[in-house]
Amino acid sequence: MDLFSTGLIEITDDEFALISKLIYDKVGINLTDKKKSLVKGRLNKLVKDLNFKTFKEYYNFVVNDLTGQSLINLVDKISTNHSYFFREKDHFDYLKDYILKEIVEKQKLLNSNQIKIWCAGCASGEEAYTIAMIINEFFGLDMPKWDVKILATDISITTLKAATEGIYIKDKVVGIPENLKTKYFKNIDSEHIQVSDSLKKMILFKRLNLMNEDFPFKGKFNMIFCRNVMIYFDKETKDKLVTRFYRYIENDGYLFIGHSESLGRETLFFKYIKPALYKRMYI
Ligand SMILES: C[S@@+](CC[C@H](N)C(=O)[O-])C[C@H]1O[C@@H](n2cnc3c(N)ncnc32)[C@H](O)[C@@H]1O
Repeated sequence: MDLFSTGLIEITDDEFALISKLIYDKVGINLTDKKKSLVKGRLNKLVKDLNFKTFKEYYNFVVNDLTGQSLINLVDKISTNHSYFFREKDHFDYLKDYILKEIVEKQKLLNSNQIKIWCAGCASGEEAYTIAMIINEFFGLDMPKWDVKILATDISITTLKAATEGIYIKDKVVGIPENLKTKYFKNIDSEHIQVSDSLKKMILFKRLNLMNEDFPFKGKFNMIFCRNVMIYFDKETKDKLVTRFYRYIENDGYLFIGHSESLGRETLFFKYIKPALYKRMYI
């Protein structure tokens, strides 16, 4: 090895263009030229482990793998799955203080005890478990009277596996209030805690690609959380996705997005409520 070499396989502009187009076409993630070194860094070990000398060889392998497994592995490496409990906390405060009350009133009028929530782009589960804790705390002893379903989906298999296990490093769950940590988590060992079965039971984790033209849902959701996901999409992809979300939210239902994201033109379908929170309009 060259004394000054990093030991990393280099990626050419053409190779980067091929891989970024594949990712864009399959999962909508928009890898601009600035992401070239990120792609090189995140894929290097995978490419080497597969004994390829170049990214072009690796690319050919992925597109010719008819099982689709290599593409799944590629997306797992490229997607950014960072998340944490009570992220953008004012969303959860608003959920507790306003939205749940409103939904309860509405469902009572409809003679329904159902609340359906979709957490789209749930990463390792922190967001879905936070919602579950808020709902449990809100209903308290009345919880068994309500049929609350949280669907949590992501494209990344690795991250969904972590979400389903619900095991987290103690040092990284600082956002959870102590009383909730005691109530909804159990100690696994000196470094890890695990989410209680009572929260797990409320959530169904599933792999789902948000780029699908249609989603296989029977009913509509009272709320969709899609936070810090569309930040990786370009405007066209985001506009189309928000239009699809519209079809799957109840009238007067809510769409939560990340605080660094905005809806722009599509607010025709959604009314702005507060930063990163929109309500579905009747049209
Ligand atoms: C940064 S995380 C956001 C996690 C959580 N919503 C939050 O705000 O903390 C973004 C997630 O979006 C997922 N994602 C990206 N593209 C996707 C797609 N096309 N379909 C489904 N999930 C996708 C990634 O795998 C990743 O886990």
